Amino acid sequence: MAFPLSVKNLTVAYQKKPVLEDISFRVPEGKLIGIIGPNGAGKSTLIKAILELVPSITGEVAIFGDSYKKTRKRVGYVPQRESVDWDFPTDALDVVMMGRYGHLGWFKRPDKKDKAVALECLDQVGMGQFVHRQISQLSGGQQQRVFLARALAQDAELYFMDEPFVGVDAATEKAIIALLMKLKSQGKTVLVVHHDLNTVKEYFDWIMLLNVKLVGIGPTEELFTKDYLQKTYGGSLTMLDSNTSPIIVSPR
Ligand SMILES: Nc1ncnc2c1ncn2[C@@H]1O[C@H](COP(=O)(O)OP(=O)(O)O)[C@@H](O)[C@H]1O
Ligand SMILES: [Mg+2]
Repeated sequence: MAFPLSVKNLTVAYQKKPVLEDISFRVPEGKLIGIIGPNGAGKSTLIKAILELVPSITGEVAIFGDSYKKTRKRVGYVPQRESVDWDFPTDALDVVMMGRYGHLGWFKRPDKKDKAVALECLDQVGMGQFVHRQISQLSGGQQQRVFLARALAQDAELYFMDEPFVGVDAATEKAIIALLMKLKSQGKTVLVVHHDLNTVKEYFDWIMLLNVKLVGIGPTEELFTKDYLQKTYGGSLTMLDSNTSPIIVSPR
């Protein structure tokens, strides 16, 4: 069986400055994976390069053994919140309905079933009462929930989420991580850019440590160590020594 995601020798540069260098890895099915690294490490760029939203200089990406063009219906993406135009005049239901478009054939309009799925997904993320609210008039946490509902409505098998917990309250964070764990239990593969090192052990089976180069990828218990974190964050990481988990003073 093909891996959900396989990346080989990926290099990406903006204006000739390399921001990802020779990245190679494979991701097995059914894992919830945290992408960890300092600001500017190339975490968002990695996802964008995989989804062909930015060009790469070299590299091969295979999704379920095939090109993204052929597999895009099986892939869900929740972008970083600040990269979305929240003034765009559309309501919560419309945003979630967009997640259904991959299921529609040529010339088919979304039907009752698509709408029912969209409404159910909004319900699942606790947004059932805001379906006709303009997205510009939702709080940060509510906007994030709507985007999560869109990803759920898409019913993908491989998900990329870029910092889904930024700007959300504790209750929303709990709701989101519960949903991600549910997706995992359904055999889906979920990659999540995450910056709060204090919750890494609790949330993720696997982590990818990234800082322009790939520092490591694998089970959290093997990679979430002082040595690996130091290699990833370098001087910007201050740790108070302890026998248990490292305490992060200034990861960003
Ligand atoms: N559109 C862009 N044009 C030029 N440089 C960019 C662009 N997007 C990101 N960068 C730069 O690429 C590097 C990686 O950015 P990014 O992938 O957003 O990092 P992260 O998500 O890990 O914080 C940073 O140095 C950033 O300034
Ligand atoms: Mg980013």
